[in-house]
Amino acid sequence: MSVTDPQPPTSGPHSDAAQEALHDRIAADSLTTRRDYLRIVATVSGGLAVGGIGVASGILHRHGDAEGPPEAKRIADGILPGESLAFRYPGAEDRAVAVRLEDGTLAGYSAVCTHLACAVLWRKERGSEGELYCPCHEGIFDARTGEVTAGPPPRGLPKVVLVEEADGSVWAIGTARSGESAREGLCRELGDARPELTERLGCPGASARADVTERSERT
Ligand code: FES
Repeated sequence: MSVTDPQPPTSGPHSDAAQEALHDRIAADSLTTRRDYLRIVATVSGGLAVGGIGVASGILHRHGDAEGPPEAKRIADGILPGESLAFRYPGAEDRAVAVRLEDGTLAGYSAVCTHLACAVLWRKERGSEGELYCPCHEGIFDARTGEVTAGPPPRGLPKVVLVEEADGSVWAIGTARSGESAREGLCRELGDARPELTERLGCPGASARADVTERSERT
């Protein structure tokens, strides 16, 4: 099982047990807590293994420096192809943007330009699949990867890990620094807090940590 970078969501009914479990767990408590977040991550990793859930990745720079994973946040009831959504994540002041490309790929990024922190905007009509644009100094970022394609920004946009639930709702569940994959960001954010989850995600060194935890729990 693995967490992947932006990919097209699958079509057809979401009938897999993992997806149903995700739906139930989210619906069970509208107030998403840190504990729920961890449940979601656990289920997401299983859901991705069967290819049933579309995931986009990212990590906001400052988020990546925070201790522990941020809480999951429902950001939209749904996002249609070509649409974008401005939201705040993981903190109330952290500007972010989600975009749905025409092929269905869902991607989330920090909306803070890596040059001088101007707001990054979605320009649907530009290029073959739109672009993320910073008007301050003409910085342009690839909508699919967040990487810089033009202008002075020194690095790509940090990402926000997005999960699309069975009812179409979109959730932000974590962040990843510039250049990190979604899985790398989640692994770093989870750290040693939940070794069983990092093992399921395939995080480096997770098996060893899980073994240590298991042994310590037995003693
Ligand atoms: Fe975005 Fe300068 S602040 S390009």
